[in-house]
Amino acid sequence: MPDHLRLDSPGSTLVIAIDDGTPSILHWGEVLDPDEDIPSLRAAQARPVPHAGLEQPSPISLMADAGRGYRGHPGLAVHRGGQDFVTDLRVETLSCTDDAITLNLVDAQACLAVSLIYRLDHRSDVLEIGTIVTNTGNTSLQLDWCASLVLPVPAQMAELVASGGRWCREFVLERTPLPARSWLAENRTGRTSHQNVPALTLGSAGFSETSGLIFGAVLAWSGNHRILLDRLADDRRVLQCGSLFLPGEVILAAGASHKVPPAYATCSGAGLGTYSAKWHRFVRDRVLPTLHGPRKVHLNTWEAIYFDHDVPTLQRLADAAAAIGVERFVLDDGWFLNRSDDHRALGDWTADPTKYPDGLTPLIDHVRALGMEFGLWVEPEMVNPDSDLFRAHPDWILNVPGRPPITGRHQYVLDLGRPEVFTYLFDALDQLLTANAIGYLKWDMNRDLTAPGHDGVASVDQQTRAVYHLIDKLRARHPYVEIESCASGGARADFGILARTHRVWPSDCNDALERIAILRGFGLYLPPEIMGAHIGPRPAHTTGRRLDFGFQAAVALFGHFGLELDVTKLDDVEREMLGRWIARYKQHRALLHAGVSVRLEADDTGLIANGVIAHDREEALICCARVSTSPAIIAPPLRLPGLDPARRYAVRIIERTDHHSRQMRKTTSFIDGEIIRLSGAALAAAGVQLPNLAPESAVLIHVMS
Ligand code: GLA
Repeated sequence: MPDHLRLDSPGSTLVIAIDDGTPSILHWGEVLDPDEDIPSLRAAQARPVPHAGLEQPSPISLMADAGRGYRGHPGLAVHRGGQDFVTDLRVETLSCTDDAITLNLVDAQACLAVSLIYRLDHRSDVLEIGTIVTNTGNTSLQLDWCASLVLPVPAQMAELVASGGRWCREFVLERTPLPARSWLAENRTGRTSHQNVPALTLGSAGFSETSGLIFGAVLAWSGNHRILLDRLADDRRVLQCGSLFLPGEVILAAGASHKVPPAYATCSGAGLGTYSAKWHRFVRDRVLPTLHGPRKVHLNTWEAIYFDHDVPTLQRLADAAAAIGVERFVLDDGWFLNRSDDHRALGDWTADPTKYPDGLTPLIDHVRALGMEFGLWVEPEMVNPDSDLFRAHPDWILNVPGRPPITGRHQYVLDLGRPEVFTYLFDALDQLLTANAIGYLKWDMNRDLTAPGHDGVASVDQQTRAVYHLIDKLRARHPYVEIESCASGGARADFGILARTHRVWPSDCNDALERIAILRGFGLYLPPEIMGAHIGPRPAHTTGRRLDFGFQAAVALFGHFGLELDVTKLDDVEREMLGRWIARYKQHRALLHAGVSVRLEADDTGLIANGVIAHDREEALICCARVSTSPAIIAPPLRLPGLDPARRYAVRIIERTDHHSRQMRKTTSFIDGEIIRLSGAALAAAGVQLPNLAPESAVLIHVMS
């Protein structure tokens, strides 16, 4: 058996050492020289025995098992009625290719096998870890925890970035110094949650967008999860993440296996920007399902009409949308049997005959005749007590017998682990998609899971897998239908759901000031084009702010662009302006949806600047949004790093959304829209002087070589 295994990608190296059969990560991070002497690396890292310490070294094995004296949180917590609780997994067989290491670990005494696969993606430097646990004994084995990833943390990591928020304020980044003790985030909401993005990022002291060592992990899972940064008694730190099992949730019968959700890790020696770019590349290349064509401009009906559906009104809305360039018309909640408000009807997936006397076809035909695609909102996992479905099958919900079920948004969660429920939902959705020309589904999920019992056993894990299976089965039958993942806004945006859905609704807050922050947080792991971004009504329905349409558009341009307002009520000026921004989106979307996202670091607390740079660095588009007044009388120039230092670029302000600012008597030619020509080096070092923008306005800068 070799004493180590190694994988390399252009920007990272993984070395797994095997010591007396115990595998552990010797190095994961920045790329090592191909000729590096691994025995010397191992010798250089060997830790002395401290006074009053254990006589033998206790490696952080790949499953962090306790058999060799490891005293941190185990990566695998199993037992048989309280026995065999210590595991000591040793390598039985292994294989190594150019991009993957497979290890089969066995603990003969505990009657347990774990198969691990580490796959390193050469384009993105993202490491994927797959884990399967098998009960090789002849009694059942209870699985309390099985980490999808166990990574020793480099000692120079000094800060962490966690991500989460709440309804209407999702994806907030929280940067804090590493705590002196362990750090834990657990999600028990039964969905990915608004509060805890299943991921964690660590950085060396003082890291920035362009400097510092960054290291982090993501869990591909839409159910309960645990992210743990464990601090060991001997000061080492270990990162773990995995699906969080409720008591008794995963019990393996003799011979049975359990595959845990995959986890991913990547690192960067050049700051947070490069780190995010690696994740984006990976998600685009390896996670997302194929898209058939560019991302279409949406008109979503929710904040335009809510539940007040009638065909003539919707047809007028479609006419007005098509006239300004909308490409997809998405009929949101309110279309199905008796759905007059959010108290009733979930589960009854047929068009309401009082609103749609001839079904959806006349509206769909109208939308398609205007050259747009038709999309439809559904919330398949749910049922209202006031619905025909619930009246017929009150026992179809997740619950614990004898405990009164709890409603959330007046609804219960269907138990998708029951074959008859799964079949009912598959048939209902299949029928909708077969009978109607629907190109897009907005798949919503609007409540947490409480007492999620299936036949008296906790069932979040099974429910999450069943949701995945339902979507997969529908997609196999209807491969051209695009799907959006929504959960009261952004409560289900993760690599697991994104392996089967094409975009995410990140927030029910359409207020562009809030959305700028959401975009920055969302973009830590996820590429911006999968984030739905709509121009909403004025005032915004969740904050009351009256933001200019131009400002809203400049912000939305950097996501998947759309409108969510009654476009029949626009005046001529507004209609012309929105039409112009839609044209802009279409003009630039190839760049925006494939380029490298950058979060610029403005030397001005009131300015947020984001952009996208083409991979060949030929072109860039930057949005500079003023969110509050500048502390300076004239805001400092904005530096534009990331371009080719040696190339010359033509730089021009192509949109400016403040038409009321009277702060400058005399401006410069650049501010007034003239082209300046500068090298990438000068743009990074000196930057460009922006106009003194009024709060809630933005400029769009175009850079072309
Ligand atoms: C959720 C979604 C909204 C909208 C409503 C409809 O709240 O996040 O975008 O679809 O449901 O009920």
